[in-house]
Amino acid sequence: MIKLKTAEEIERMKRGGEILSRTLSLIAKACVPGANTEDLDKIARDEFEKVQGKPSFLNYQIHSSDPPYPSAVCISINDEVVHGPATPNRVIQDGDVVKMDIGLWYEGMATDMACTVLVGNVPEAARELSAETRRALEMAIETIHDGSWMHEIGKTIQNYLEPEGYGIVRDLVGHGVGHGVHEEPQIPHFHDRRMPPVKLKAGMCIAIEPMVTLGDWRIAQKDDGWTIITQDGSLAAHWEVTVAVTDSGYELITPWPTTK
Ligand code: MF3
Ligand code: CO
Repeated sequence: MIKLKTAEEIERMKRGGEILSRTLSLIAKACVPGANTEDLDKIARDEFEKVQGKPSFLNYQIHSSDPPYPSAVCISINDEVVHGPATPNRVIQDGDVVKMDIGLWYEGMATDMACTVLVGNVPEAARELSAETRRALEMAIETIHDGSWMHEIGKTIQNYLEPEGYGIVRDLVGHGVGHGVHEEPQIPHFHDRRMPPVKLKAGMCIAIEPMVTLGDWRIAQKDDGWTIITQDGSLAAHWEVTVAVTDSGYELITPWPTTK
């Protein structure tokens, strides 16, 4: 069953989303050559602590057989797509394409968002990849309203990006969010005809997070047991927002961060 949120719960999520977005903007600003990813993680953990929020990814287990996740922020660089743990020996360099994914528990509700940060001198193709991934996400959320079909989200992203030659990661999905970090429904970022049709309803809260590559859509996992990389070594971008479905459209729970 897809759980609906009350208006009051959505208000709490919006307060959390504001904090989350502000925190993501802060660590995006600190993402400069020489910074190590553990320091960026610490900035986020301190921000959350100030407002009595909790990082929702720290110690999270995606599958019950996974070890607990080691950091508050996932920081994934270049051909790393998502789920890169923050560690002191990982140092940001000029030209890096950095994906930062962050989740918060605040007033009993979970929110989730991610952005791509372009550090210094990145190739033009990487700039376009990030901008187009974000644009596809913006277009996808415009399809959302009470009674809309969930598959319009993936279809919109696919129809926009695939003709340009981009790869859309298929094995990781967007998801419901709010009472938990990951809830039903699973939301593919392409039109997956194997999925049963889902009609969106006012009160659903969902995180949409296209992961897009300059090459193929296939992914692999690094030996660290967490980090997801592209199989072909191509650069990847990732943008994510949490939205609430409303009668007439959607409400952005996590405002777009500042990434420049
Ligand atoms: N935003 C990520 C997702 O929805 C959450 C990462 S889970 C973690 O997939 F375990 F890696 F933290
Ligand atoms: Co997510």
